[in-house]
Amino acid sequence: MSKLYSAYQLKGQTIKNRLVMAPMCMYSAAQGLANDWHLAHYLSRAVGGVGTIVVEATGVLPEGRITEQDLGLWDDSQIAPLKRIVDEVKRYNCFIGIQLNHAGRKSQTQGKIFAPSSIAFETMPTPIEMTKEDIQKVIESFQQAALRADRAGFDFIQIHGAHGYLINQFLSPLTNKRNDKYGGTLTNRTRFLREIIQAITSVWPKEKILSLRVSAEEYHPDGNHVEEICEVINLSKDFGIDMIDVSSGGVVNVKINAFPGYQLPFAQKVKEKTALPVTGGGLICTASEAEKALSDFGLDLIFMGRELLRNPFLPLNQASPLGVDLEWPYQYKRAKIVPK
Ligand SMILES: Cc1cc2nc3c(=O)[nH]c(=O)nc-3n(C[C@H](O)[C@H](O)[C@H](O)COP(=O)(O)O)c2cc1C
Repeated sequence: MSKLYSAYQLKGQTIKNRLVMAPMCMYSAAQGLANDWHLAHYLSRAVGGVGTIVVEATGVLPEGRITEQDLGLWDDSQIAPLKRIVDEVKRYNCFIGIQLNHAGRKSQTQGKIFAPSSIAFETMPTPIEMTKEDIQKVIESFQQAALRADRAGFDFIQIHGAHGYLINQFLSPLTNKRNDKYGGTLTNRTRFLREIIQAITSVWPKEKILSLRVSAEEYHPDGNHVEEICEVINLSKDFGIDMIDVSSGGVVNVKINAFPGYQLPFAQKVKEKTALPVTGGGLICTASEAEKALSDFGLDLIFMGRELLRNPFLPLNQASPLGVDLEWPYQYKRAKIVPK
């Protein structure tokens, strides 16, 4: 029996299978607004049979976008085009969430950029060290974006705490040199994340899921490793985190020795140490690799990124070799691959 194609229950909600489309920036928006490209992109993966979609990093403030072409949720006008995507995707019994982000010092947008400390990323402009007011503004913008995400109908929010963006910049000792209550000890460096979680959960419906994406390894001797990230999660989870998505890297620019499943041991460790449901992944390219990863590492869900860009119908196409007889959309039934 396939674990990949079996349903997963969380907080009374049922997700039809264990395959997650990883969040992937499309750099295709103007003024943060989703458009027909985004609809076609997400809807085709829903038609293709993926169980969960995580909509790409979406800026909670204009200066919090990675690029000027990112999606945004800082304004009510951005709700309707996202709701259109959510409504269509849900017609295929696909679970859909949105990743909320502030890029901090890695923002390539015009104007001022902000970070916990005035340390530039590589050759990018030097960011402004955030004041308490700046911090408060970002926390409130996560809260407002969460309200809008609810109005758009999303099933879950994923807080982007990974890849060296603002939350990760607060978490990492490489980028956070503050002397106030937001810097220094790991507990202090986690405060910004905790306050964001509290702000979101004060408005996010209790029955809906809140997920956190982390970089479990920073690939630098003085950076966070999986043990510290487990501690960060344990310091935060009681404020309302339901699930963790384990990625790695992005705080500093280093060469990573990436191979299929290279991040899975981190995901396994996070599950062991935090007792939260975990999604893992990285360079997983087939349903059978995903199946093996789920069982070998005891994970709950598995994400695929680039392979789903190459092959949007992968879940439908690769069910049969795993002995699974999936219901295909009626329009495509005559193309169905029948199990032997
Ligand atoms: C085009 C592209 C855009 C990405 N954008 C995001 C993003 O918005 N948020 C995020 O957390 N990760 C992002 N990632 C990383 C993916 O979510 C995923 O973790 C990574 O591609 C590794 O998985 P894969 O080997 O299955 O592609 C992006 C990756 C790609 C290829």
